[in-house]
Amino acid sequence: MFKARIIGTGSYAPGKVLTNSDLEKIIDTSDDWIITRTGIKQRHIAEDGESTSVLAYRAALNALDMAGITAHELDMIIVGTVTPDMLTPSVACLLQDKLKAYQAAAFDVSAGCTGFLYALSIADSLIRAGNYSKILVVGAETLSKITDYTDRTTCILFGDGAGAVVLSKEQGQHGILSTQLYADGSCGKLLYMPGGGSAHPATTETVKKRYHYLKMDGNKVFKTAVKALEDCVIKILAQNNLTGDDIDLLIAHQANMRIIQAIAKRLELPSEKVFVNIEKYGNTSSASVPIALDEANRQHRIKKNNLLLMNAFGAGFTWGSALVRW
Ligand code: ACO
Repeated sequence: MFKARIIGTGSYAPGKVLTNSDLEKIIDTSDDWIITRTGIKQRHIAEDGESTSVLAYRAALNALDMAGITAHELDMIIVGTVTPDMLTPSVACLLQDKLKAYQAAAFDVSAGCTGFLYALSIADSLIRAGNYSKILVVGAETLSKITDYTDRTTCILFGDGAGAVVLSKEQGQHGILSTQLYADGSCGKLLYMPGGGSAHPATTETVKKRYHYLKMDGNKVFKTAVKALEDCVIKILAQNNLTGDDIDLLIAHQANMRIIQAIAKRLELPSEKVFVNIEKYGNTSSASVPIALDEANRQHRIKKNNLLLMNAFGAGFTWGSALVRW
């Protein structure tokens, strides 16, 4: 039986930082409100020219370096993103070109903030089936490009960044044990960007109506996210005959500190088993889980044989989880 083992992690965030006090100057908010309601202190913002594929490239180089392989050895590249450089070609193809990984197949996955977990699950299945042996999975976003900085209910949340993992086909106990994915398309309009696609292509009117920015009913998203994530982590543990006690580290989607705490409480996880970096990055959508994973890895918070639980929830709605034996 083959497993997909994570042999390298990498991440990258743009140098420019937007703090809560910077936001206090442009919208009616406060550092105290943002920290209390979300846990966020700052977020990274891409400069002009730092498109999603540029961030993805830098994260990918770090992951390949840790994995000790060259881009030439990759046979597949999958990128989770909701902020591609352009509608087509995909970020994965732009990244393939930047890496000169021309023997790798490449495509994007659009699954809101769950994009990385969807991509990871697809890669895991391809490796288990025996068809591919080295897959680069990336979550990369430039959410600042679709964030309305006049809307205080959304602009405090989002940031830019990229995270990447290299998966290798290996035999043995280590690697991805299980993934579970879910979606509920009936909730699409609770978190969406109306403009720029075939329903509302860009016109002067769509720009005037601010259709090219994310719209969100934050409170409904929050409540649904807590319930869906609680149910899904309980289910993946039960299906693998595990309990919260078996988890060594929770790498949760960094959307809101209160959502992370609710999941940790439900699993009765002490704070040292919960990785948190939301204060530095905000919600980076598909990039959130792989950035957190890379930071935890580089801070030596993950030891061999540790059991990791990852989860994410986002636009669609989509949500899911993954269990990894390190
Ligand atoms: N500063 C100050 N006050 C604010 C701000 C702000 N930035 N934003 C909203 N408020 C006010 C509201 O106007 C409201 O005031 P009112 O009571 O006078 O009407 C009050 O604060 C409470 O607003 P709520 O929306 O009920 O606040 P809530 O506790 O739900 O927190 C938040 C808002 C942080 C957005 C939360 O709902 C949240 O995190 N939602 C989930 C977001 C998420 O997880 N998204 C996931 C996926 S993202 C993706 O896929 C790209």
